[in-house]
Amino acid sequence: MSTTAIFSRITGTGSYLPGQPVSNDDLVARGIDTSDQWIVERTGIRFRHFAEAHVTASDLALEASLRALEAAGRVADEIDLIILATSTPDFIFPSSAALLQSRLGIRTGAPAFDVQAVCSGFAYALTVADKFIRSGSHKCALVVGAEVFSRILDWNDRGTCVLFGDGAGAVVLEASSDPGILATALHADGSYSNLLSVPGQVSCGQVTGVPFLQMDGQAVFKVAVKVLAEVAHEVLAAAGMQAEQIDWLIPHQANIRIMNATAKKLGLPAEKIIVTVDRHGNTSAASIPLALDHAVRAGTIKRGEVLLFEGVGGGFTWGAALLRF
Ligand code: ACO
Repeated sequence: MSTTAIFSRITGTGSYLPGQPVSNDDLVARGIDTSDQWIVERTGIRFRHFAEAHVTASDLALEASLRALEAAGRVADEIDLIILATSTPDFIFPSSAALLQSRLGIRTGAPAFDVQAVCSGFAYALTVADKFIRSGSHKCALVVGAEVFSRILDWNDRGTCVLFGDGAGAVVLEASSDPGILATALHADGSYSNLLSVPGQVSCGQVTGVPFLQMDGQAVFKVAVKVLAEVAHEVLAAAGMQAEQIDWLIPHQANIRIMNATAKKLGLPAEKIIVTVDRHGNTSAASIPLALDHAVRAGTIKRGEVLLFEGVGGGFTWGAALLRF
């Protein structure tokens, strides 16, 4: 007896950036000892967005999700799985995914959970959703990356506070007889945990440790370029494809120099990279779906094209997904 293979396919994208863009010069005006030239030369970042104090990751996720649902032509009750990637959740618990489910008015009992893999969060969440769908257990997933990194930035550390911003991106991922997602790969190496961390926690009613982001920028740079090239080759090999077949590379939007170095290692021209880091800075788990949605809505990415998503972040974690859009 033959069975038809089930694949997962992105049927809609959405994103949301809160408030007005904050320029590098705006940061200087706020008293940070930096310059537009330093930030642009080292990172490619020109603007970022910051959510107002009362706005949470699930608020941003809701806006991005509503846009993705509309693009997919789905209503919220058709969603049978929510996976939300974030390192800046609304609360310790309940999960931001559960809060998002409630805000979407879903009362079907569909599972909803957060994934915490920092800047690789969306690659992790998409891979998990793909496996749920391919197993046949679920048919229509909402996969979201949503972050309010402004809450964990040390404004006295100019080496990190200029790099990050807030935002959300979402996709609707549906079961399909055609791919869809062609290959995925996930990795982690906890021995790098000290390179990028927020080493704080809430304990007995007190914040203990350091509740701000800390980073060894140069070490992060080296590891990121190495593992992004490796994982890209891994998913290409798994799908039996060559780098030349990639129409668009959508790397985690952290730093233009990491993105260019990754493309170079793959032998891809810089024109094949989707770049939005200039407009929103590093939004961690939100950055890949944000970049995807911007490029889809701009008409840059078209149906049928081959996309490579790849993320790397604290943990260290890294992962990639190769797909036909
Ligand atoms: N404005 C002006 N000067 C600055 C700033 C700033 N915002 N930050 C640091 N400097 C100064 C430093 O004080 C130092 O001055 P000194 O030479 O007088 O001591 C000088 O600039 C060089 O500092 P470095 O930290 O060595 O700067 P570097 O060239 O390594 O650039 C950066 C720092 C941009 C963070 C770089 O290491 C990098 O791109 N790393 C990758 C990290 C990254 O992208 N992380 C994102 C999160 S991780 C992820 O998403 C995968």
